[in-house]
Amino acid sequence: MPLDMIIGTQWGDEGKGHITDLLAAQADIIARFSGGDNAGHTITIAGEVFKLHLIPSGVIHPGVTCLIGSGVVVNPAVMLREMTELKQRGVDVSPQRLKISRKAHLITPAHIALDKAKEKELGAGAIGTTQRGIGPAYTDKVARSGLRAGLLDKPEELAEAIYAHINEKNRVLTELYGEEPLDATAVSADYANYAQQLAPHLVECSLMLDEALQNGRSVLAEGAQGTLLDIDHGTYPFVTSSAPTAGGALTGLGVGPKNVGRIIGVAKAFSSRVGSGPFTTELDGELAMRLRGTGANPWDEYGTTTGRPRRVGWLDLNILHHARRVNSLTEFVVTKLDILSGIAEIPVCVAYDLHGQRINYLPSSLEEVAQCQPIYETLPGWDEDIMQVRQLADLPANARRYVEFIVEQTAVPVSHISVGPGREQFIPVTNL
Ligand code: GDP
Ligand code: IMO
Ligand code: MG
Repeated sequence: MPLDMIIGTQWGDEGKGHITDLLAAQADIIARFSGGDNAGHTITIAGEVFKLHLIPSGVIHPGVTCLIGSGVVVNPAVMLREMTELKQRGVDVSPQRLKISRKAHLITPAHIALDKAKEKELGAGAIGTTQRGIGPAYTDKVARSGLRAGLLDKPEELAEAIYAHINEKNRVLTELYGEEPLDATAVSADYANYAQQLAPHLVECSLMLDEALQNGRSVLAEGAQGTLLDIDHGTYPFVTSSAPTAGGALTGLGVGPKNVGRIIGVAKAFSSRVGSGPFTTELDGELAMRLRGTGANPWDEYGTTTGRPRRVGWLDLNILHHARRVNSLTEFVVTKLDILSGIAEIPVCVAYDLHGQRINYLPSSLEEVAQCQPIYETLPGWDEDIMQVRQLADLPANARRYVEFIVEQTAVPVSHISVGPGREQFIPVTNL
């Protein structure tokens, strides 16, 4: 059986958790491969809402094994908190079904303090990170001085390594940023305690997945963030510090490309972004309020991890072209189509105007991106509430046309349309 992937095509929050929950029903293993608890994935089952940051979104399906892959950065305190919350809600998070790669890297309070200090120093130029220590943890990994999850097996060694790590980072925190130092003794004691609780979950990630695939099991890789937040292929430097794209799924799990089956790009029917950086189709004023929502609905556009209001704008097909190229997408799942109901005319960005030239790609230079003007094609809207629609035939003609337009323009088929946050709120699509 193959390795299928769920990839965010925009700036994250496309509804990847919701789609993972849907597709997890047919999978044996759900694996996160990048990022950490900067992710916020929401699943809604019979009105009950689960917000997951680290634990894969397949966890609500009892038969599924969940794996936190080698490319992930793990904050053990967050992991344990999330496990406790799930346990209290009757979800099994025992070591038999929840695994952590020995090669995943640990996030420490020093990483979080450094993330905050750097953002503070950047002031108006801040990235707008989630302040979860993601960048500093990946920085240590790439500098070959990170702390890997495998150390959780050796609490004493871990405590010593954490003690040295905190003391080293304290010099940077105090001397470079003028911040308060952390208590190295207390942090190392905390980590020794986390180690005892998490050690039984450790696995050899690549080995586990290879055995599973060879034995005919199916693996679903759950992307976090989105293609435009990719460290190489996103709007650098306004990106995250990992590779949330299809290539990142392979390196983050230790699986080769021969195993790959479907590469499912989750595309929100409009655009959203949290944090700073370019956003060519961004809206403000009343239209932005209309797309964002007031916060009254759980699906309104406010960050799952930070609660920040998300920036919103029209759908940008240049971004979907970019996502298709970077990820070799086999299909799109279009989410939040229901949010567009009631908008009389819906502009879709079909190209950019850059210095009088029409372009169909995202320039790598941010200066050039800032000079791009969106070229819109306006599609007719629909009035009907579509949240209860379950078949393509029942979708209003203009709603169907909107999705068809995406397929025509990108030459990538759509396999599902999502019309609400609930597990059942999907329209399967076979002939678009
Ligand atoms: P993720 O990070 O990609 O998993 O997405 P988030 O969970 O951060 O944000 C997506 C939000 O939209 C969540 O509140 C979901 O429950 C919700 N959602 C997902 N798909 C749909 C949909 O088709 N319609 C509506 N109304 N909400 C959706
Ligand atoms: P999910 O998986 C939306 C954004 C942050 C910031 C940038 C860098 O829920 O789609 P970081 O803390 O990673 O160093 O922040 O990346 N970001 C996300 N935006 N959804 C996410 O995850 C994100 N994870 C990181 O807002 O702009
Ligand atoms: Mg999210």
